[in-house]
Amino acid sequence: MENLLYLLSACLLIVGLKMLGSPKTAVRGHAIGAVGMLIAAAVALLLSQDGEGVRLEISRNSLIAIGVGLIVGTLVGIIVSQKVQMTAMPQMVALFNGLGGAASALVAAIDLFNKEAANTTVEPTLSVPAALSVLIGGVTLTGSTIAFAKLQGLIGGRPLVYPLQKTLNLLLLLGAVASCCWLVSDPLNPAPLYCLAGAAAMLGVLSVLPIGGADMPVVISLLNSYSGLAASAAGFVLGNNILIIAGSLVGASGLILTKIMCKAMNRSLANVLFGAFGKAPEGAAETGKAEASSGTVKSGSPEDAAMILDSAGLVIIVPGYGMAVAQAQHATREMADLLQKNDCEVKYAIHPVAGRMPGHMNVLLAEADVPYEQLYDMDQINSEFAQADVALVIGANDVTNPAAKTDPSSPIYGMPILDVENARTVMVLKRSMNPGFAGVDNELYGRDNTMMIFGDAKDTVTRIVSGLKDL
Ligand code: TAP
Repeated sequence: MENLLYLLSACLLIVGLKMLGSPKTAVRGHAIGAVGMLIAAAVALLLSQDGEGVRLEISRNSLIAIGVGLIVGTLVGIIVSQKVQMTAMPQMVALFNGLGGAASALVAAIDLFNKEAANTTVEPTLSVPAALSVLIGGVTLTGSTIAFAKLQGLIGGRPLVYPLQKTLNLLLLLGAVASCCWLVSDPLNPAPLYCLAGAAAMLGVLSVLPIGGADMPVVISLLNSYSGLAASAAGFVLGNNILIIAGSLVGASGLILTKIMCKAMNRSLANVLFGAFGKAPEGAAETGKAEASSGTVKSGSPEDAAMILDSAGLVIIVPGYGMAVAQAQHATREMADLLQKNDCEVKYAIHPVAGRMPGHMNVLLAEADVPYEQLYDMDQINSEFAQADVALVIGANDVTNPAAKTDPSSPIYGMPILDVENARTVMVLKRSMNPGFAGVDNELYGRDNTMMIFGDAKDTVTRIVSGLKDL
């Protein structure tokens, strides 16, 4: 019976994951996955073991455990969802990953301690997954904690690099693998367990410190995958099928997401993990200011922008990280509504790595009730910029930089970008000439058809809305 329920739960998790792939079905997919997880956890808590084997049994203790878990989990979920800002979502995921890794490592360690107390033998089929669970879970816990601290601004976001760093990390990895082997050969001895836990914890800290804050979403996605693998290994330790399945699903989906992000940034995973991207270049100006590398920068006011937009037939809005920072999505929706009332067609161009986390722009725009039909992926929209009267870039920078196509010396060369420069007029809403995440100039700002509108994106869009209303 329990395996049938586990099978049902696994199916719900898979269907839920599939539905997360589209903004239209994501909310329902999330609910379906949550029901799958509830069934899995409830069945695990209702299982009891005696001389006749394992069976489902409704007992007072298991009902209390399910009830307390539901109440505490629901309360934490409600508080977190109310308090955490959308832009702080990556660090929240990091925290959850870290806790997941810690739970898996603890499950494996406690199982070994129990076996030691009962003086039973431990076969390699159990000690190998236990060692892997402690290793991967430990790395996930401390690595995620550092990722959280970087994104939360508790420690500097710049890559921390020092001489012989890679050699030290390699030695630490070898030490962790040696401790794993020691633990497998002597599973009831706590010494290798402590050595392994210590080496894994240090490895997590020292391997994430050299990675720049802005690369953290990729690292978090990778650590998410690790937390799934650690859970899967813990599933083997406990002999729990659904934990093995759910852990594998998390492990695989985290890895796929990591690959998608790296591809969209045109960088290898090795470059993200070991490239110290975002390290201050030697002799870099303290101010971090950048000038458009060619051309004269023209700037205009929001009122100028309103006049041009008022006579446009097709406007393509390109949202980026700055729109999230400014929380300009609601004002943008209001502006789009006004334009549409004026018989102007409005489309949104979504770059796969715009913002700082996967689906960042989709979530922001969904929050402002922008219809899904108006959202276009890069491949669908790129050919349409040539017909657009205005490409309205709101707080996006790197994802519009033509140097990605033309300048082989640029750090973002090869990254697929939105062809905004093909529009009749390009309006760029940002506060200054400062570069974006990649730290490179954007020659788009010096082009003849580009108009910069400096200021906070929300203020600027709000002023454009007033300008449109006045016209
Ligand atoms: P960025 O290139 O980072 O540019 C964002 C721009 O927003 C900045 O140039 C900034 O200019 C502007 N800005 C900030 N606050 C603003 C405000 N309040 N009002 C108006 N503008 C504001 O962003 P993007 O174009 O979205 O590109 C994303 C970058 O992040 C890519 O390089 C990508 O590879 C990287 N990345 C993305 C992800 C994911 S999964 N999305 C993960 C890791 C890395 P000012 O300071 O002048 O205002």
